[in-house]
Amino acid sequence: MTVHFIGAGPGAPDLLTLRGRDRIAASPVCLYAGSLVPTALLDHCPPGARIVNTASLSLDEIIAEMATAHDAGLDVARLHSGDLSIWSAMGEQMRRLKALDIPVTVTPGVPAFAAAAAALEAELTLPGLVQSVVLTRTPGRASAMPPTETLAAFAATGATLAIHLSIHRLADLVADLIPTHGEDCPVAIVWRASWPDQRIVRATLDTIVTAATGGGERTALILVGHVLDAEEFGDSSLYAAGYDRRFRPQSAASPFAIGTSS
Ligand SMILES: C[S@@+](CC[C@H](N)C(=O)[O-])C[C@H]1O[C@@H](n2cnc3c(N)ncnc32)[C@H](O)[C@@H]1O
Repeated sequence: MTVHFIGAGPGAPDLLTLRGRDRIAASPVCLYAGSLVPTALLDHCPPGARIVNTASLSLDEIIAEMATAHDAGLDVARLHSGDLSIWSAMGEQMRRLKALDIPVTVTPGVPAFAAAAAALEAELTLPGLVQSVVLTRTPGRASAMPPTETLAAFAATGATLAIHLSIHRLADLVADLIPTHGEDCPVAIVWRASWPDQRIVRATLDTIVTAATGGGERTALILVGHVLDAEEFGDSSLYAAGYDRRFRPQSAASPFAIGTSS
């Protein structure tokens, strides 16, 4: 049978995709990463499902659960917070499952950085100002960073920074960023984006450490960049009245006019 990896979204139960919901509902076994996946999602499990919180299990124990389900002919819904493409530990599980010839599917989810941007009502790329977002983190107890992936190196690009897994290192991170971004660069921290106890603090690099006092040491997204308070930026060409494009050709001579382009 199949192990369905499912991005569970950032926290609010209605930010699960319809495909994710349907795969949970069709799977008699559900393994979920209990530290961040909301338990309300387990309401979609079919009656009698085997539901296991994997927060305290080792990789070997998790794979054993999946292999047992596979041997019994049962599909497994495997839930991780946010999306599976970043910091989900899907890669190592996938490698083991492929070695065991257990089929998998992957259903994307709403990532935390997108939920944080939504909470801020912010677009992280703005015309003429910034066109890239760096999804990164700082080193943790269990995860070293590759030597070239320093915050200072990413900061030098001027891209908007979405910094994960780092709220406990806020003061260090600020010290790393001030040389490139300046003390007045806007910072926003969103704790538990989309959860009922979501909290937002906006400040600048020189004031954020004080402003964030008491916000907690876990589950926060730190967004840094001048995009956060920008008012001087261009309109995108895409919607400009005179912009010639496939869906809005401006004249019969346009290469996008009906009959002249494929
Ligand atoms: C192990 S990573 C998981 C990331 C996840 N796969 C994603 O797509 O967002 C956990 C980190 O993501 C961030 N995070 C996850 N959920 C969040 C939320 N609801 N609000 C703010 N940050 C969140 C925090 O930085 C947290 O330390």
